[in-house]
Amino acid sequence: MSLDINKIRADFPILDIKVKGKSLVYLDNAATSQKPLRVINKITEYYEATNANIHRGAHYLANKATEEYENSRKAIAAHLNAKSEREINFVRGTTEAINLVAKTWGRKYVKAGDEIIISALEHHSNIVPWQMLCEEVGANLLVIPVNDKGEQLYEEYEKLLSEKTKLVSTSYISNSLGTINPVHDIIAAAHKVGAKVFIDAAQALPHMKVDVQELDCDFLGFSGHKVFGPTGIGILYGKEEILLDMPPFMGGGEMIKTVSFKGTTYNDLPYKFEAGTPHIEGGIVLGEAIHYINGIGLDAIYAYEEELLHYATNKLTEIDGLRVIGTAEKKASVLSFLVGDIHPYDLGVLLNEQGVAIRTGHHCCQPIMDQFGIEGTCRASFAFYNTMQEIDALTDAIRKAVKILR
Ligand code: ALA
Repeated sequence: MSLDINKIRADFPILDIKVKGKSLVYLDNAATSQKPLRVINKITEYYEATNANIHRGAHYLANKATEEYENSRKAIAAHLNAKSEREINFVRGTTEAINLVAKTWGRKYVKAGDEIIISALEHHSNIVPWQMLCEEVGANLLVIPVNDKGEQLYEEYEKLLSEKTKLVSTSYISNSLGTINPVHDIIAAAHKVGAKVFIDAAQALPHMKVDVQELDCDFLGFSGHKVFGPTGIGILYGKEEILLDMPPFMGGGEMIKTVSFKGTTYNDLPYKFEAGTPHIEGGIVLGEAIHYINGIGLDAIYAYEEELLHYATNKLTEIDGLRVIGTAEKKASVLSFLVGDIHPYDLGVLLNEQGVAIRTGHHCCQPIMDQFGIEGTCRASFAFYNTMQEIDALTDAIRKAVKILR
């Protein structure tokens, strides 16, 4: 099934704006995605016809807001193929999902001398929380090395695994290079030594079907704003039996069953991890974004974005002096590059002059940039509303910028 891109683009009003008198070419989707009208309208609708605090009121609006919030949780559970909506916790985003697991499950189960494995490709949010945990409990952080194509070295990973391994945490898709990591094999191998696995799926959810039962991951996190929903909302998935056994994260209202000065008993899942008034609008609207992408179809999205990436790679590599950083066999929707010794920021600024939005810098992945011996890259990242014509515009804009900078 192919996508009707013109029809899809009409869903995204921001794509029509002009930047510096030129049509916007938005290629910074890995940083954040644009929002379809269905999502934008749902935000307005929420504040015009639903707004109330949830789970605690007896009135019409409180019930309506609660129902929509919980329906959204159910839709997200179905989308991830979770066994139950009790496994779906609303958090602020992937960063909070990782920190929650590090500070609850990690503090309970990771002891001095234990090992946590991450990879050299990770975003800072999948490095620092584990470093903090290791420092706190005296555990060791091991790192799966990555080759010069930007692929995790699976055989080296297997060598790192032992009975000391308590947790493996990896991205599904690298935000800086676009590598699709072999998460199925990583999870299966970790389970053989009794370790749990966290999958950072922030860059996977916008591009492909993610099925937590098929993956058999123990935890998974993603962010709403990368998947065409609002900022400040995301999901922590965890297997129910593991979440049940974890201490709460933050204390406060909603996460309790009873409170007295003698002690507190905690609420059932998923409320145990949702202290305080949550981002109600965000939770509801995230469900709307999920309905939107399912309406388009993730298989069609994935196939179209593969074509986009292939086309972009061919076009950009025709540019004299341009080298792609991250040339893994399996990649999705991210094209990082450098041109000669031109500083990525300078190129980014000149592309902006031509209406083209890319991201420049280390993309919160300093360790992998260090491995490549670079400070950062220019990164074009795609979504299903991008077109081949926009890639032509990117290519022309790079050529013009390079002429000025050389
Ligand atoms: N992690 C986001 C990115 O890759 C912000 O741009």
